[in-house]
Amino acid sequence: MSFNNETALKEIAVSSPAAARVLEEAGVDYCCGGNHSLEEGCAGTGVAAQEILARLRASTEQARPEDADWRSARLAKLTEHIRQKHHGYVREAIPRVSALLEKVKTKHGTNHPEIATLEGHFQQLGQEMIAHMQKEEMILFPYIERLEQSKQIGAPLERPFFQTVRNPIQMMMNEHDAAGNLAKQIREASSNYAPPADACASYQRLYGELRQFEADLHTHVHLENNILFPRAVELEN
Ligand SMILES: [Fe+2]
Ligand SMILES: [Fe+2]
Repeated sequence: MSFNNETALKEIAVSSPAAARVLEEAGVDYCCGGNHSLEEGCAGTGVAAQEILARLRASTEQARPEDADWRSARLAKLTEHIRQKHHGYVREAIPRVSALLEKVKTKHGTNHPEIATLEGHFQQLGQEMIAHMQKEEMILFPYIERLEQSKQIGAPLERPFFQTVRNPIQMMMNEHDAAGNLAKQIREASSNYAPPADACASYQRLYGELRQFEADLHTHVHLENNILFPRAVELEN
């Protein structure tokens, strides 16, 4: 696989999970901003495109046992993976992080008004994601699974109420942009998840949880925007 400064970020991220991790660790937005080139994506991250290219070359040996090639796996396997791994994580993380936010705000909210800002953004993000995942699980994913099945057995599918899969996909992608923006606001309000000098253990744990929440969101949106959705559109065509 040869990449250069002009390669689209989504193309790099789709090439392997190890490549997606290189972009994630460098703070490059490859999920909602996947159509940008590597050069454009590096702007403002403090990491040069040449450095990323070097890390990508080194990353080919960093495959993990759980890495699957989602470009060729069955779509039903990918939707199941997203449900279990990412939707499952979001559902269990929201109450845990909300409780931590509440605890840290009670103890440090007076000296650190940014905690109340973080709590507001996180509450909004959590509510939006719960509603978003429900739409995927109730409507879009089952339709994609039926599409794949109908192709396998050679039986045509009835036209869905949303006409074409491109309609719910566009809606989900708009919601991904909104979620990505909220996560970015959380990162900014927390000074890039850097706890202040007087932070207690709970405060530090909170910032670690918020950082992980954003990283998981990036992988989750990447799997949908860059792999699942384009494959579903292709299948429908
Ligand atoms: Fe999702
Ligand atoms: Fe989604």
